[in-house]
Amino acid sequence: MPLEFTRQRSAETAGIRAEIGAAPTGIPADALVVFLTEGGVGSGVAAEVDRATGGLLARLAAAGELTGRRYDCVSVLAAPGVAAPQILIAGLGKREAVDGGVVHRAAAAAARLLAGRPRAQVVFAGETWWTPSQVEQAVAGAAVGMVGQDLYRAEAKRTPFGTTIWTGVAAGSVGSGAAIAAGVNLARRLVNTSPDDLYPASFADEAATIAGRTGLEIDIWDENRLARERCHAILAVGRGSARPPRLVILRHRGTTGRAADALPALALVGKGVTFDSGGLSLKPSDSMLTMKMDMSGGAAVLGAIATIAALKLPVDVVAAIGLVENMTGPAAYKLGDVITARSGTTIEVHNTDAEGRIVLADVLDVVRGMKPGRIVDVATLTGACMVALGHDVAGLFSNDQPWCDRVAAAARAVGEPVWQLPMYPEYDEQIASDVADIKNVGDGRWGGAITAAKFLERFVGGIPWTHVDIAGPAFAEKPRPWTDGGGTGSMVRPLVELARGG
Ligand code: BES
Ligand code: MN
Ligand code: ZN
Repeated sequence: MPLEFTRQRSAETAGIRAEIGAAPTGIPADALVVFLTEGGVGSGVAAEVDRATGGLLARLAAAGELTGRRYDCVSVLAAPGVAAPQILIAGLGKREAVDGGVVHRAAAAAARLLAGRPRAQVVFAGETWWTPSQVEQAVAGAAVGMVGQDLYRAEAKRTPFGTTIWTGVAAGSVGSGAAIAAGVNLARRLVNTSPDDLYPASFADEAATIAGRTGLEIDIWDENRLARERCHAILAVGRGSARPPRLVILRHRGTTGRAADALPALALVGKGVTFDSGGLSLKPSDSMLTMKMDMSGGAAVLGAIATIAALKLPVDVVAAIGLVENMTGPAAYKLGDVITARSGTTIEVHNTDAEGRIVLADVLDVVRGMKPGRIVDVATLTGACMVALGHDVAGLFSNDQPWCDRVAAAARAVGEPVWQLPMYPEYDEQIASDVADIKNVGDGRWGGAITAAKFLERFVGGIPWTHVDIAGPAFAEKPRPWTDGGGTGSMVRPLVELARGG
């Protein structure tokens, strides 16, 4: 593995701390980040900096240089009265529209710009009017924004700060924000890793390392165990690859009793297709290019449960990640194959590129056997979901409206947009097979995200379940103000919020 790989890994836990009671203008640092809403310097930290600099910010605002527009970042050098040689003013937009997602992205945008060259110490001045949850999301945003996609570059485009200091906000929220960022950056690193380096066994090794570090219980099923456990669906998809599949099961026992036989309250399930060539239903080259990201659901689940453990949340959570590489080798599964999934349900294969639902059939069945109170699965499942909702919005599908509402609320609380699609029973007709219990695609492409969810529903055994299709938001093909692009860590923050009961 390249050296950069190790270097980037340390950035997931970079030094972030709170300094309570200190005036942000007085702290020696390479840069000071201040947040600004639209409509002038107001009464917060920007006003404080304005006073310290003899009205500099107000003059810049009057001249139209400083607007406070969302994610606009304005740099002011060598301002009098400020210890740091550079002030970066990050726009939050209209104050009444500020939420966890806005502060997260604004902090990330500021950090991304400053991380364009090495900085030993950067001070972020939080606002007293932010809620503890918003502080957390801002802290997480700054730590996520300073990490780019540099795993394999000789010269990194972003250098994480040596130390990040947050002022004006509670130390507890700074600590939890840093833990959340570590989970997001972990997921992003796994997504951004070349599929030649990240395959089922190496993903499982990563999970084992994380488990060792955070105190999670871990069980890894290799191909022999998968065969003994009748996971023929996972094995079928994996057969075309020289790299055998894995199932990773992680457990966080956060409830006071910690009884070994206690049932998990929450199960997180992730699609971990480490590369999706489409199999014999081969993808065109253009669509295949980014398919290292097809394990983003698995990465999100791993990042989330690692954070849940780091935060010692008082909840019993299990995570299960189905890891396969979908390839076209001589033993590859074929169109017309009938697979008997672990549950006994038979699946007729009409398209080997609809592999994620086949893998998840067995993962969901394993999880169902653990009798969790609720299930949420995260998967880059369908291009159809992107046709429906675009790049930024995840699709929600559920057999239980209250549970779906809670997943949606958790996502929105941290600023990840989601939208529910319907699960009318009529869609079930589309996955009826002439020769087996079900087939792995619908009739034609219409409603493809829903027929995929309908397929998954067959394997959850009536347990309250919500499926999150992150085909759009998991990967940013182009840079945005708050990210260099690549893996986004989509759904890590919502899953952590969900485990908190949010
Ligand atoms: N991994 C893809 C879905 C995907 C597409 C994710 C684009 C992210 C970006 C999935 O395995 C897939 O290939 N789905 C097919 C299903 C079809 C064959 C029924 C699709 O969406 O085209
Ligand atoms: Mn596919
Ligand atoms: Zn796929």
